[in-house]
Amino acid sequence: MKILVTGGAGYIGSHTCVELLQSGHEVVVVDNLCNSSKESLNRVVKITGKSLKFINTDIRNARAMDKIFAENNIDWVIHFAGLKAVGESCAKPVEYYDNNLNGTLVLLQAMRAHGCKKIVFSSSATVYGDPAVLPLTENCKTGGTTNPYGTSKYFQEIMLSDVYKADNEWTVVLLRYFNPVGAHASGLIGEDPKGIPNNLTPYIAKVAVGELKEVGVFGNDYPTHDGTGVRDYIHVVDLAKGHVAAIEKCALSGVFTYNLGTGVGYSVLDVIGAFGKACGRDLPYVIKPRRAGDIAACYADASKAKNELGWEAKLGLDDMCESLWKWQTMNPEGYKSN
Ligand code: NAD
Ligand code: UFG
Repeated sequence: MKILVTGGAGYIGSHTCVELLQSGHEVVVVDNLCNSSKESLNRVVKITGKSLKFINTDIRNARAMDKIFAENNIDWVIHFAGLKAVGESCAKPVEYYDNNLNGTLVLLQAMRAHGCKKIVFSSSATVYGDPAVLPLTENCKTGGTTNPYGTSKYFQEIMLSDVYKADNEWTVVLLRYFNPVGAHASGLIGEDPKGIPNNLTPYIAKVAVGELKEVGVFGNDYPTHDGTGVRDYIHVVDLAKGHVAAIEKCALSGVFTYNLGTGVGYSVLDVIGAFGKACGRDLPYVIKPRRAGDIAACYADASKAKNELGWEAKLGLDDMCESLWKWQTMNPEGYKSN
């Protein structure tokens, strides 16, 4: 199949391009490189030995999007393009709603104009807000999001569901990611955050490499096994394979929602310990106050994806840490190291 991957130069997008190409699909990437580098796609080609088409444009550019659909016979869209930093979204709500909501609207208009009615959307466990029960199933209540980033994901799920309600020929797959971490086993592609990382594992990696002094642990008084926050970390390669399963298995029209997680929750201290094992030394950390907006624990019931897509996460926390460490040591300055 021919797949348009929006945001394909980014962290999850580049890993998904690898899995799509290795599964025999054709890939067209559209990305404006606002949070990524073209080098990631060169690496995708290096890993797979296959080519892909890259178009450098903003998905809010209606004319450019129209041209992409006119010139390529696209079967499916996998829609990653969006801004994703929770803290930044609170400071720049207009920019976040513009990019994420407008971007999706322009994309949907171009798809509709060209009769392309199959889309996989990058949603997030953040749409569940603060979970009332764990593990989270797809039927748990959504909404109650606490920041513009999360709210934009929630709104986009509603927009996409409404598109199906109006035209039952659409296939809409909403993939709710838990916490994607790690890197490709080759060490050639990985997460390349700009500046000081906000997320836990890239921060730990910078401490391990000596760029940052110690990990700040945001709170140790949560009702979890060691008091620190618990999350469902999922290897990015497993997550990428989930997208291939979605386009290959979702043959019928409808709206299909799947949690992509492992079903296992690890605490901040568990992750620091596992990363220490991967890099061969105990990593320094200090307990800090809770981070505003954080929840105590979040992990998935991932059985629906297993039963309906035949997909389940195979890689564990050690694989996540080892692959991230390999990426970090092979590319100390990310794609700039090239
Ligand atoms: P990323 O920033 O690495 O990738 C997003 C890509 O989209 C980047 O390459 C960026 O340049 C591109 N982009 C952004 N706005 C664009 C626009 N208007 N036009 C064209 N390209 C644009 O992020 P990621 O971690 O790979 O996340 C991919 C998707 O998954 C995002 O939608 C994100 O919200 C979602 N998601 C990520 C996580 C996570 O923890 N990484 C969790 C849940 C959901
Ligand atoms: N944490 C620390 N120190 C840090 C960074 C994080 O202790 O320096 C803790 C947090 O308090 C939390 C855990 O590590 O308990 C994970 O935090 P992350 O920032 O890595 O991830 P979040 O669960 O907060 O959020 C991530 C993405 C969101 C996404 C969500 C669910 O950033 O975009 O997963 O998919 F919505």
